[in-house]
Amino acid sequence: MELILGIESTCDETGVALVRGTELLADVVSSSMDDHARFGGIVPEVASRAHLEAFLPTLDAALDKAGVGLDEVDAIAVAAGPGLVGSLTVGNAAAKALALALDRPLYGVNHVIGHAAVDELVHGAFRDRTMALVVSGGHTSLLLVNDIATDVTELGHTLDDAAGEAFDKVGRLLGLPYPGGPHVDRLAREGDPAAIRFPRALTSPKDRERHAYDFSFSGLKTAVARWVEACEADGRAVPVADVAASFAAAVADVLVAKTLRACADHDVSTLVIGGGFSANSQLRELAQARGAEAGIDVRIPPIRFCTDNGAMIAALGSAVVRRGVEPSRLDIGVDSSMPLSTISV
Ligand code: KG4
Ligand code: ZN
Repeated sequence: MELILGIESTCDETGVALVRGTELLADVVSSSMDDHARFGGIVPEVASRAHLEAFLPTLDAALDKAGVGLDEVDAIAVAAGPGLVGSLTVGNAAAKALALALDRPLYGVNHVIGHAAVDELVHGAFRDRTMALVVSGGHTSLLLVNDIATDVTELGHTLDDAAGEAFDKVGRLLGLPYPGGPHVDRLAREGDPAAIRFPRALTSPKDRERHAYDFSFSGLKTAVARWVEACEADGRAVPVADVAASFAAAVADVLVAKTLRACADHDVSTLVIGGGFSANSQLRELAQARGAEAGIDVRIPPIRFCTDNGAMIAALGSAVVRRGVEPSRLDIGVDSSMPLSTISV
């Protein structure tokens, strides 16, 4: 089995990992999130600079941990998109430099598909057709995985905000620190999810025809804002835990209902959930409970594999290499909006 070096730099995490087959040898991540928190969002220039500073120490730490030398690496995989152009450029320049210097093949792969591929390191190689729900601050996509290395179809995605993004915005309007997602989750556990009936977008019979597997969270976020404003206008104290719980229930309900419907429609019995938002406890609980009722095997990798990391890129690179897919040319460009029909470039 070939030794794959995986490089991730699409957003604020610099990740380097080593994978052989589906065995993870090392996975080291350096995050610049603390540098962005005071701005209330990722600052692309700050993230690019942080990748530049973190790359070599992260690479050295990963090689050290795996106990291998650079000369033992057989192929280099790098996330070539989607993501922030400046951040992507740093990781891709590093990957190309290594490929050239070591005379090893380069594989530019899709970051979002990596969020699904990482499950192979946890639960073993995908055997049957698999459904993958990738949810984070940047993505909310439903993928039908026929073959993780060669055949992935995007069934649907969010038409506006990503799930994590909606949580961060609701966090801000409830006065919680950035990123608000984990804080809203924590508050929601103390509240009543049935207290307020917030809208479930794109679930009407008409929407089900055109947007069966698409999502929309921007109207929900606005509904929460209006509800809180009305409460304040009345001079009532905002029941923040109930608001958080009712909002979180609406997000989890729509994500799980549409995903399980897709599993049934496509006769798929394995579901992988990945991306940083899969840390969300309301989503995890509902997916496990409703998945069990529907006879679906719901797989959610440990959180460290769900947030951005190098292991997901090495995992996808390894699958692509095992499948005998052609390597990328050394002059590939990064693609900030890489389509999900592209697994490798
Ligand atoms: O995958 P990720 O680390 O970075 C992106 O690619 O976006 O995902 C981070 C997103 C943020 O929006 C964060 O607030 C959200 O996931 N998040 C959560 C939770 N943990 C992280 N949202 C709700 N509940 C959580 N427990
Ligand atoms: Zn991601």
